[in-house]
Amino acid sequence: MDEVRKLGLAVEERWRAKNFDELLFPDIARTALEEFALTASIQYIDILKWLNTTQELPKQQNIEATFGQPPVTLFASQRFYVEALFWLDGTTAIHSHAFAGAFQVLHGSSIHHEWGFEPRERINARMFIGDVYPKGAALLRKGDVHTIMPGSRFIHSVFHLDHPSVTLVVRTYPLEEAKPQLTYQCPHLAIDRLDIEEATRRRLQGLRTLWEMRHPAYDIHLAELVERSDLFTTLWILEQDLATRGDIGKCVPLFMAAREKHGRPVDFLIPLAEVRMRQEQIMRKRALVTDAEQRFFLAVLLNAPNKASALDLLRMKYPDKDPVDVIVDFVRGFATSGPGGGALLDVPGDEASLTVLRLQLQGKSPAETAKGVEAGHPAGPLTAGKVASLCDELRASLLKPLFIDAGPDLR
Ligand SMILES: [Fe+2]
Repeated sequence: MDEVRKLGLAVEERWRAKNFDELLFPDIARTALEEFALTASIQYIDILKWLNTTQELPKQQNIEATFGQPPVTLFASQRFYVEALFWLDGTTAIHSHAFAGAFQVLHGSSIHHEWGFEPRERINARMFIGDVYPKGAALLRKGDVHTIMPGSRFIHSVFHLDHPSVTLVVRTYPLEEAKPQLTYQCPHLAIDRLDIEEATRRRLQGLRTLWEMRHPAYDIHLAELVERSDLFTTLWILEQDLATRGDIGKCVPLFMAAREKHGRPVDFLIPLAEVRMRQEQIMRKRALVTDAEQRFFLAVLLNAPNKASALDLLRMKYPDKDPVDVIVDFVRGFATSGPGGGALLDVPGDEASLTVLRLQLQGKSPAETAKGVEAGHPAGPLTAGKVASLCDELRASLLKPLFIDAGPDLR
């Protein structure tokens, strides 16, 4: 790791010359990562070998490995450190950072989104209701470098596509003025997820036990806990209840009880639950798929919040193809790639339905789509009524983001 040490010492010297201004650190880190081009000289396996064979490692940060699988500290100085983050699983988490720095893709590739957040209502310093909206999507490949500005100046999500994906990060230790580090949940929430009280964690564990037992007192305990809880705790209870029941419809009584107690902010949590459920369904389906291209497309569906982001990502991956053709081809392929040779997604894959999909992606109205289907299929397998119901079905399916034209507006 001699090259990493040289990079670390150069960053130290250059940052000192700038009086250790935290806001200048991201650019210094980015320039050093580009200049030293460590991706040419370091393979990820070298890092794991170094980890095992070096007698005296730099002080390892985040020893609990709560971020990175694992995070390996390669160089540490008084004010910043350099780490390699290994990833085996993709995460859709949207977050800000309580530190400054820059990162570089060392191995693999990632779907990267930058986001903005427009607060509407402050619940407290660690929880805000507002609008989470996408600012741009990119495919990051080996060697790509990106700065990390501290606090709400830079909000992003990085979904790692490869197994493993490895990122080099040159970063400061946590900065007081950039705290708390917030997690953003589409479309309406920003919270400090680390702020959960120990008592709440234990109570949630107790509730889970009642659920696992299918105990008749579960619903009563749930309602009582919501009745006594603040909004932040209520969010955790709703999340757990949703994850255990796996069906928003079955959580309606709890949402109503929460609405009764906390009022309008709870309305903003319902669309959040819908996004979460859809993402979990796609994650489960993606786990069944081994084909790299199909896994990429499912990652796009998982991460892209709207049509523009999805099309951008597909154009970057398949620059010579029309992204609508790419989508239709994938959906055709998914018609037989589910368990037992059935459909993987919740959309039909017959040619007439694919024509409806194509015309809808091209922005045609249901009436124009019906005409187009008729023209493309003179035998007329689909009536106008059937076309209209297929259009509705597509908008409610796992392909939903492909039919969202702009950032979600849930006023
Ligand atoms: Fe990050």
